[in-house]
Amino acid sequence: MANQSGDTFVMDVEKIREDARRHMSDGAVTQTYGADLETVLKLLNDALATEIVCVLRYKRHHFMAKGINSEAVAAEFAAHAAEEQGHADSIAERIVQLGGEPDFAPDGLKTRAHSEYKEGENLTDMIKENLIAERIAIDTYREIIRYLGDKDVTTRRLFEDILAVEEEHADDMADLLAGRE
Ligand SMILES: [Fe+2]
Ligand SMILES: [Fe+2]
Repeated sequence: MANQSGDTFVMDVEKIREDARRHMSDGAVTQTYGADLETVLKLLNDALATEIVCVLRYKRHHFMAKGINSEAVAAEFAAHAAEEQGHADSIAERIVQLGGEPDFAPDGLKTRAHSEYKEGENLTDMIKENLIAERIAIDTYREIIRYLGDKDVTTRRLFEDILAVEEEHADDMADLLAGRE
């Protein structure tokens, strides 16, 4: 839609207007959408499953840590669970914006998710499992960001924002672990 050669920037606004009108039913997905929509929706739904599994794991750990009187760690797990829920919501919202349907089905959740649901035997184990899960999320989101490139900037930005939080989560878990060893 835009031609860039040297300093000139030419944009065919008439064509953009025409396309916008003709394909109105596609909502936010316009003619210049550069990614493969089906692939992006699959990536988003896999990420949604990942976030849901992370919510469940942190919730389990929160209540178990509370049970063994580790209030500070339990509170950290709860805070992370809430943030993972926020990620799941933003991802679901983006799926709908792209004309897809968020997959919340419990069947197959484990297979769709990148990270695992590990209960952990004790507090140190729980922290380790969360650190591992965060590291998996970091690597898979980084790959997704690389794939999206400038083909779908909005989805890429969403993953970039989430990635930054997962890095903080991993750092929090690494700190907790260091304090116990
Ligand atoms: Fe997350
Ligand atoms: Fe996280």
